[in-house]
Amino acid sequence: MSRFKNKVCLVTGAASGIGRATAMSFAKEGAKVVVSDVSSKGIDVVETIKSLGGEAFYQHCDISDWHSVELLIEKVVEVYGKLDCAVNSAGIAGQVSQPIHSYPFADWHKQIAVNLTGSWYFLKASINQMLEQGSGSIVLVSSAAGLSGHSENSPYSASKHGIVGLTRTAALEYADKNIRINCVCPTAIETPMIMEGRRNLAQDPEALMAINNYQAMKRMGQPEEVASVNLWLCSHESSFITGCAMPVDGGALSK
Ligand SMILES: NC(=O)c1ccc[n+]([C@@H]2O[C@H](COP(=O)([O-])OP(=O)(O)OC[C@H]3O[C@@H](n4cnc5c(N)ncnc54)[C@H](O)[C@@H]3O)[C@@H](O)[C@H]2O)c1
Repeated sequence: MSRFKNKVCLVTGAASGIGRATAMSFAKEGAKVVVSDVSSKGIDVVETIKSLGGEAFYQHCDISDWHSVELLIEKVVEVYGKLDCAVNSAGIAGQVSQPIHSYPFADWHKQIAVNLTGSWYFLKASINQMLEQGSGSIVLVSSAAGLSGHSENSPYSASKHGIVGLTRTAALEYADKNIRINCVCPTAIETPMIMEGRRNLAQDPEALMAINNYQAMKRMGQPEEVASVNLWLCSHESSFITGCAMPVDGGALSK
């Protein structure tokens, strides 16, 4: 398939996990890919894309810093001349498990800054460019924790609920401007965030089994299974869909 031939596709958080899988999938479908992250491991992703015959470059960006996000979009347009598809997969989950009354202030502020304010910055800068060119499609990465409560991780759940609100609001504001905005809401996806994160599933077989069983399919999803939804939401195949918060959940939310 080459659904994205001659399309310019930007992915943040593209050094790892869902973002990396999304960048690779865009490249395999012919896109010119901008790989962005705070981590220079994104450079390895670009090398891999190029070794497979694809076209890509790396641009460092801290999604929680407006000037960094502004510079990212400027760089995309400077190098490739436009921005067709933009996926914001940059995100953090927090390192502690605590109820609200004892949750640390610093972890609250950090997650809100990266996950929620970062998503707003990403929308603001991407939409500015898409308005100028008269088209575009944006996917934000929320979470199942953006559709239901998530005990002992209040900033994560609040920031991911916020992303759903941003998605719906942005969809209404730009529906008649040929710009579509959607978000995905995955449950457990096997990436470093969840395997090496606060629950350290890689070292805890019991917790791992509990996480697997949360999905009706009794397994975690793979990053590629979210990437394929991201691409579909960016593609012409979903041309009548905007403002959608799409679960990617192995049936978990059907319970
Ligand atoms: N893995 C899951 O189970 C799961 C479930 C639901 C939602 N999500 C969401 O999916 C997205 C991707 O997560 P993942 O599982 O691939 O995790 P990951 O840790 O593998 O990848 C996240 C990437 O974001 C980058 N990043 C972190 N802070 C950043 C910042 N300030 N600016 C730019 N980049 C930054 C990291 O360097 C990393 O490369 C996140 O928004 C996460 O909340 C993940």
